Amino acid sequence: MSETTSKILITCANRNNPYLVRELEAMGFSIERNEKYNVSIQGTFEDTLRLNMHLRTANRVLYMIRGFKAHKPDVLYDELVRIPWEKYIYEDGYIHISSSVKNDFINDTRFANLKVKDAIVDRMVRQTGVRPDSGKDRARACLYLFWHNDNCAIYLDTSGETLAKHGYRKIPHSAPLIEALASSILSAANYDGQTTFVNPMCGSGTLAIEAALLAQNRSPGLNRENFSFMHFKNYRPDEWKKIKKEAEQNIDQNSKVKIIATDIDPEAIKKAKINASYAGVEKSIEWKVCDFRETPIPEGGGKIIFNPEYGERLGEIEELEEQYGQIGDFMKTHCDGYEGYIFTGNLDLAKKVGLRAKRRIEFYNARIDCRLLEYELYKGTKRTIDPDPAPSS
Ligand SMILES: C[S@@+](CC[C@H](N)C(=O)[O-])C[C@H]1O[C@@H](n2cnc3c(N)ncnc32)[C@H](O)[C@@H]1O
Repeated sequence: MSETTSKILITCANRNNPYLVRELEAMGFSIERNEKYNVSIQGTFEDTLRLNMHLRTANRVLYMIRGFKAHKPDVLYDELVRIPWEKYIYEDGYIHISSSVKNDFINDTRFANLKVKDAIVDRMVRQTGVRPDSGKDRARACLYLFWHNDNCAIYLDTSGETLAKHGYRKIPHSAPLIEALASSILSAANYDGQTTFVNPMCGSGTLAIEAALLAQNRSPGLNRENFSFMHFKNYRPDEWKKIKKEAEQNIDQNSKVKIIATDIDPEAIKKAKINASYAGVEKSIEWKVCDFRETPIPEGGGKIIFNPEYGERLGEIEELEEQYGQIGDFMKTHCDGYEGYIFTGNLDLAKKVGLRAKRRIEFYNARIDCRLLEYELYKGTKRTIDPDPAPSS
């Protein structure tokens, strides 16, 4: 059963899918479909273990059990009760159901979730005489229902808790980026972990930590003990052990790549160091408490990424206008040979940088429409007023 190839749907945040596609292709998968919130491939249940171990930009890995048509809840129940759930779910197990439902037959997704739960539990009771528990806890066997119009599919949610957090316990500072977004930003900047990476205004350190994880080839799954796939009967612990061992062997602890993270706030650096130590990369990052203009910039070029405040939740717009201009000046005068980036959710402030952006890449940070602005920095970089920083590439 576990060798069966099926559709695997990998979900992600809006606008992260180009980077998820990149990761999947690098792992050798062919892309079947690429949509706003997910990418699908074909693979086995074992493949979902590898995906959960390695993916940096994804939210969840869903393994399809069956796809069918349903035009009312009773049909959904009838289809689901025929699936041999006793092959997947432990009699004394615990299930959590989540769903995406968009149709005229149901206006409360909780009702759809209840139908799924009833069908599974009724089947299990009929076949085994025992009823598994169910509830909100994502720490055990999770199932996912997709039901748009009359297109229905039921999946094993092999991740459970989101993969967007990379397992190192994170003490947040001001407006921290979630790890999958930080990873997507690095991918959009074409950062491959081989060149110098500088992150002034590092806050809780997410970008620098993700860069260090990349430089050392440390897979995010190594930081996590529990995944939903471990709670299905088709899980083979030996398979996971093998994947884990390989991932551990692939770590390059001798990576000499320079990664520098600075912040004006000593508390930020303190927290970022703790976060980095949970991620196993504290010693691979050079830390400094300083104004961003005192950030050391090594010779030889590399990438420098700023994620200043946007004025959305923090800070005063007027002060920030001046700061964005100073960031532009700093990049122009100190970062010769680097590719410079500013990640911001305030497009008006982006205009104050005063450098011409080569690319403007669209992202969302939660619901905030954001841009990653790319600047090529070389001696004599023109300090021009960017005529039109709003449209994206
Ligand atoms: C939006 S937060 C960065 C969040 C970060 N990317 C993360 O994931 O946690 C902006 C950071 O800029 C820092 N900051 C503000 N003004 C600064 C300055 N003049 N020099 C250096 N850092 C500054 C703040 O202390 C704050 O930690």
